[in-house]
Amino acid sequence: MKKIASNKLDNIKTSIFSIMTEMANKYNAINLSQGFPDFPGPEFLKDAACKAIRENKNQYVPSIGIPELREAISRKYKRFYNLDFDPNTEITVFSGATEALYSTLSGILNSGDEVILLEPCYDAYAPVCDFNYSKPKYIRLEYPDFKISQGQIQEAFNENTKCIIINTPNNPTSRVFDKNELKLIGDLCVENDCYIITDEVYEHITFEKTHTPMASIKGLKDRVITISSTAKTFSLTGWKIGFALADEDITRPIRNFHQFVTFCTPGPFQYAMAEAMDLKPNDPYFKNLKEQYLERRNLLNSKLIEVGLKTIPTEGTYYIVADISSFKITNDVEFCEFLTKKIGVAAIPMSAFYYHENKVDKLIRFCFSKKIENLEMAAERLENLKSYLKE
Ligand SMILES: Cc1ncc(COP(=O)(O)O)c(C=O)c1O
Repeated sequence: MKKIASNKLDNIKTSIFSIMTEMANKYNAINLSQGFPDFPGPEFLKDAACKAIRENKNQYVPSIGIPELREAISRKYKRFYNLDFDPNTEITVFSGATEALYSTLSGILNSGDEVILLEPCYDAYAPVCDFNYSKPKYIRLEYPDFKISQGQIQEAFNENTKCIIINTPNNPTSRVFDKNELKLIGDLCVENDCYIITDEVYEHITFEKTHTPMASIKGLKDRVITISSTAKTFSLTGWKIGFALADEDITRPIRNFHQFVTFCTPGPFQYAMAEAMDLKPNDPYFKNLKEQYLERRNLLNSKLIEVGLKTIPTEGTYYIVADISSFKITNDVEFCEFLTKKIGVAAIPMSAFYYHENKVDKLIRFCFSKKIENLEMAAERLENLKSYLKE
């Protein structure tokens, strides 16, 4: 029989998140691998979605998103970041940031275009480049500070470079990129006439540092495609409400592609999220979100350090990167398997976020968007790690 799978999938393996979650379930481990909260999202949003369903707002909605949500997103960007986006021509709603990224890259890439990726990076970027027959070009952010440096980035640009993908706050490194780092990238994109796709899904989960939206850097707004999502901010990852904001000329091809992917995103969740987008920056919701994640971060971080894992300070997101070099098992994949099966805590091997040869294989990523009691239980189990330290 003819080969059934498309050649596009030759490099695609089952996602590490599915593998680790399955392993966690099988061995009854506390799942600190996949990035989703194990606590419920806000009541007012669940009520709003139920209300929309009961009011029979259950048919197809406009492909670009309901006007109520696009207008609320526009108000939000003005209120939080002083950025102006026209809800009719510059804002589009998608089924999660994942679909926004897929439709954006598919809407703008041609075969042979190059896309600069900063590795380690979120695992959805490279496959979508492959699906569009474009070539990812990787720039390594060096452990332990994962800073963006001029020389390396400069070298990555050439006449085939169409765009760069930035992710701040960053998964998996937990960095919140500085204004200077973003400006450096912006200047190079202007110089080389490239677009910037910025994935800002963790925009509201930052700690000692504040998030700078790429579009707010002077002179960049007309070449930036901002992608964000309500999943992480409102702890409702299953609703898959994401959006993209970009200049009208960039938005047009993205919308054209999107109409043949999902056509539209479920209406009741959009009506609910329109309410979420209207929260003011000083609403207690945002303060609580930070405080609760800070408590969780500090709880897990101090335990990881206590049992002998070196950690990198989490500036944003709900992940902690830990260095396993002081343990007898020094390979990240083997360590995560051991951690899940023998210690009862699941994490993600960071090599899953690298695509080059010489992957960094001594780091693992823990997720702390879990109930305090589950983090405490994980902390108790992690005590047993101490006996596996090198002599
Ligand atoms: C960096 C990053 N981008 C995008 C997503 C996916 O967002 P959504 O659930 O809105 O598709 C995630 C989820 O983990 C993420 O970490």
